[in-house]
Amino acid sequence: MTVSEQPTRVAIIGCGSIGRTHAAVILEQPELLLTALVDPVTEARTELAAWVGDRAAPRQYPSVAAALAADVADLFVLATPSGLHIAGALEVLEAGKHVIIEKPLDVDLARAQEIEAAALAAEARGQLVTVISQHRFDPASLAVADAVADGGFGRLCSAIATVSWWRSQSYYDSGDWRGTWAMDGGGALMNQGVHTADLLLWFLGRPVTITGHAALLAHRDIEVEDTAAAVITFESGALAVLHATTSAYPGLSASVQLMGSGGSARIDNDRLAYFHAAGEDAPESRMGMNGEGDQSAEVLSRYPEEAAEVADPTVYPVGHARQYRDVIRALASGSRPGVRVSDAVNALACVRAVYLSSALGRTVLFEDVLAGVYAGTDVAAGIAGGVYAGKGQA
Ligand SMILES: NC(=O)c1ccc[n+]([C@@H]2O[C@H](COP(=O)([O-])OP(=O)(O)OC[C@H]3O[C@@H](n4cnc5c(N)ncnc54)[C@H](O)[C@@H]3O)[C@@H](O)[C@H]2O)c1
Repeated sequence: MTVSEQPTRVAIIGCGSIGRTHAAVILEQPELLLTALVDPVTEARTELAAWVGDRAAPRQYPSVAAALAADVADLFVLATPSGLHIAGALEVLEAGKHVIIEKPLDVDLARAQEIEAAALAAEARGQLVTVISQHRFDPASLAVADAVADGGFGRLCSAIATVSWWRSQSYYDSGDWRGTWAMDGGGALMNQGVHTADLLLWFLGRPVTITGHAALLAHRDIEVEDTAAAVITFESGALAVLHATTSAYPGLSASVQLMGSGGSARIDNDRLAYFHAAGEDAPESRMGMNGEGDQSAEVLSRYPEEAAEVADPTVYPVGHARQYRDVIRALASGSRPGVRVSDAVNALACVRAVYLSSALGRTVLFEDVLAGVYAGTDVAAGIAGGVYAGKGQA
């Protein structure tokens, strides 16, 4: 990959809600040019084209194959329903183009590992392959990741990660793929929680065992879980609790709290709510400081905002903008992007492990999940019945 005088031509595949977010971010990057919109649904394409207006003149295509045949783009963004990510990405990679894949990587772990191999081969040919995990680029996440790497928290002992959100039935009804095993791949943990699972693994390393429960408790017409809770042990010995729900009315927050012998941190709704890193030299504090000693303002001053000023964060999330700057850097320098396919495979495997553990009623080994030991297990059976009888319950 070399720096070109011309902006990189970008195609968005999937012109729905996150497709518009990508369009908003791409339009703001001078190094990128939005040249194509791909969606089998004509209205989705034309609506997004109308929203883009005269800021760009993307051509419209009903399929990835048609856009590839027209040779209109060098970078393709997969913003389709989750279960279609890998099929589209493989098509793009085989055509020698760069690809950004929305999270989660896909719904199927075996296929995810297939694209892991394809991505390595594509990278060797100079193609860029990355998966959206925009919260890795939040200053709060960077500050915590750097402190973990520097030993600022001493021995990392435990973590609590939770996504406590509300999604109504009308949200699930807004797309026929939502809340299905085949296309969403899961519920609260797969769709909403995979970002947080990814952060947890980024901070704590490789899981060893996962003991999880998933249940459908407050929604009627979905197949998947709306609540999941798991205990995870890590190679370092650290213990973590991972929780995700779309049944926390009216919606609380997404947070990750890390606790170690030399420091602790808490990220709440993408912001650094508490940070203290004294490392191995932590002074004697017999009973602890109970949340005092917050150094978050000081540490954040080392991570100046990279994203452009934005008028409307609901259509222009800064996280996506930050990750696009990482992609642009990687394209310009030929270096690897900050998020690799292998990272997304691990996040997907962690979510699948919770479902498998729930379905099997026992602890599972992360390595066994990756190795496909449980392939063929019917995870829908792991969704315990709640107050309502959902589609996923026998
Ligand atoms: N990173 C994030 O924070 C974030 C946020 C929301 C959604 N997402 C992810 O983005 C993906 C899409 O979610 P959404 O909310 O935009 O869904 P959506 O239903 O609003 O949009 C999906 C679009 O894809 C189109 N589509 C379906 N099949 C296609 C195909 N074969 N080729 C091209 N387009 C096709 C549909 O017609 C629709 O317009 C999901 O995987 C979701 O998990 C990520």
